[in-house]
Amino acid sequence: MTDTETNPEADGGIETSADGGTGTETAETDVESEREATTAVPIADPELSDDAVQRVESILEDGRLADGPEVRAFEEEFAACCDTDEAVATANGTTALHAALEAIGLEDGEAVITSPFSFVASANAIRLAGGKPVFADIDPETYTLDPADVERVLAERDDIAGILPVHLYGLPADMPALCDIADDRDLFVLEDACQAHGATVDGQRVGTFGDAACFSFYPTKNMTTSEGGMIVTDRDDVAEHAASYVNHGRDVSGTGGYDHVALGHNFRMTSIEAAIGRAQLERLSEFNRARRENAAAYDAELADLPLETPAEPTGSRHVYHQYTVRTTDRDALAATLSERGIGTGIYYETPIHHQPAYETVSTAAARLPHAERAADEVLSLPVHQGLSARDRRTVVEAVRTHFTTQ
Ligand SMILES: Cc1ncc(COP(=O)(O)O)c(C=O)c1O
Repeated sequence: MTDTETNPEADGGIETSADGGTGTETAETDVESEREATTAVPIADPELSDDAVQRVESILEDGRLADGPEVRAFEEEFAACCDTDEAVATANGTTALHAALEAIGLEDGEAVITSPFSFVASANAIRLAGGKPVFADIDPETYTLDPADVERVLAERDDIAGILPVHLYGLPADMPALCDIADDRDLFVLEDACQAHGATVDGQRVGTFGDAACFSFYPTKNMTTSEGGMIVTDRDDVAEHAASYVNHGRDVSGTGGYDHVALGHNFRMTSIEAAIGRAQLERLSEFNRARRENAAAYDAELADLPLETPAEPTGSRHVYHQYTVRTTDRDALAATLSERGIGTGIYYETPIHHQPAYETVSTAAARLPHAERAADEVLSLPVHQGLSARDRRTVVEAVRTHFTTQ
């Protein structure tokens, strides 16, 4: 099964460049000739360096494959990178969200406000933890939760326990406003930072605004562990509960024996995944810089066309997990790019409240016009760190040709 089949985020064909994309002529040429056989410019291109391969080899030689010191080291390094006191590694971003909600203390039947315009995992995690997802609309420029619409929902309901904002495409949600709302009403805030490794608001890292935050390390993300996830928090109680929950409720303060003090799951990360993650974390700033440079080039070169390029509100630092444009001509533009071998993605074609799996959820019939319109108009272009200048030109020329030959 391919990544595309398991996760629509992977749409567009993924290649893993084990040579590390050194930036030398030879490496780039090899990568590009391989691509010709599949997609000329893929939507995602995870890049594993020799260092990652060596780290994995030493774990294989060591034989401690599951949880262990490598995972603890990755947790410490990731917490330091996020400026949080604690981090708990998990099997993926979905289990990170689920375990974090359990650790924060979401009670069965309590409602949590989240975005309808996200990967379905944001809302699924609330249901899996026994809660009820309730959707507020997005801001049409940032595609993230609109604080004013969150206020509207809060005025209508008295069962809301928390807010789960999503930093979509790598752009932070309006955390100052959302945290003020949560403080006023004593709600918890869990940040879904699965797409936003390294993004900031006024210099403050996403992951440090709420009670906790969750990241995904799926291969299309700004850094990967293959599958993997992480909870970060400054709350010792949340970290301790989460660490226990992901390990069958094991007593984390004990001596490592088989004392299980609560019900939990096996949501653990493996040492192999942690080894990849440690190598990738060292390159996160480099990857994000490359994504931002690619985005700045697109911003400049697409500015005069009849499409909307991504917003970056003052104070926010976008890390461009996706570079998402918006046009009423979306499907035709995607077809033009596909004919030229350029991978694109629609994140997301169906807002969560309209997913078949949400027919039985109480807010399925909600009217969320900004999310619904965005779902018809957004298209993500390749923006990953592996793009060459030639790749970028190929994308820009194809988009320009589409709009100028109509
Ligand atoms: C916004 C968002 N939340 C949650 C997830 C779930 O992460 P994972 O696929 O690692 O379970 C993803 C991953 O695609 C995501 O993009």
